[in-house]
Amino acid sequence: MRAMSHDTREINRSSDPFADTTRRWLFGYGSLIWKADFAYAARRPARLHGWERRFWQGSHDHRGTPQAPGRVLTLVEAPGARCLGMAYSIGADVLEALDLREKNGYLRVIASLEFDDGERAQGLVYIATADNAAWLGPAADEVIARHVAGAAGPSGSNRDYVLHLADALRGLGAEDAHVFAVERRLRALQPEATTQ
Ligand code: SIN
Repeated sequence: MRAMSHDTREINRSSDPFADTTRRWLFGYGSLIWKADFAYAARRPARLHGWERRFWQGSHDHRGTPQAPGRVLTLVEAPGARCLGMAYSIGADVLEALDLREKNGYLRVIASLEFDDGERAQGLVYIATADNAAWLGPAADEVIARHVAGAAGPSGSNRDYVLHLADALRGLGAEDAHVFAVERRLRALQPEATTQ
């Protein structure tokens, strides 16, 4: 089977099931938690059931290059798992910029979000699946940490991506064994370096 192109903008442009509503929820589970460079009317912590974070997606455009991709997050299905992230109430006008930001393999997916008070809503989530050309797939935590330690791209170092994410998850009170295990190994590899 031929891999889907890593540039998903055209597919995403034609898939907005919320087109007839003025606002929709966007769920962020990675950099979208801590780097909200788009307009939003409200934001609320929310969770997705049945999904978990994995550093299994290659980054050609933010934390790596096409020649030396970084490793960034996607979500994988995991029955019984809960993924805590941040939901933003956005208008259709910011979708083009989001598609550009998430163009490296991520598709818009509709998922059911649950807010802290138990309220539920449908929302958009950008997810990269194994059939996109930038997919890297599973690796041991130590291998991921070493990969991250050596990668950088136009948005900065891959290390900062992981450390900002881990800090943001702690701020949310989220548990995430995978992210925190990679963070621990990364800090052990380069204990002297600081982020920001
Ligand atoms: C997200 O944050 O929801 C998508 C993955 C990323 O941009 O890190």
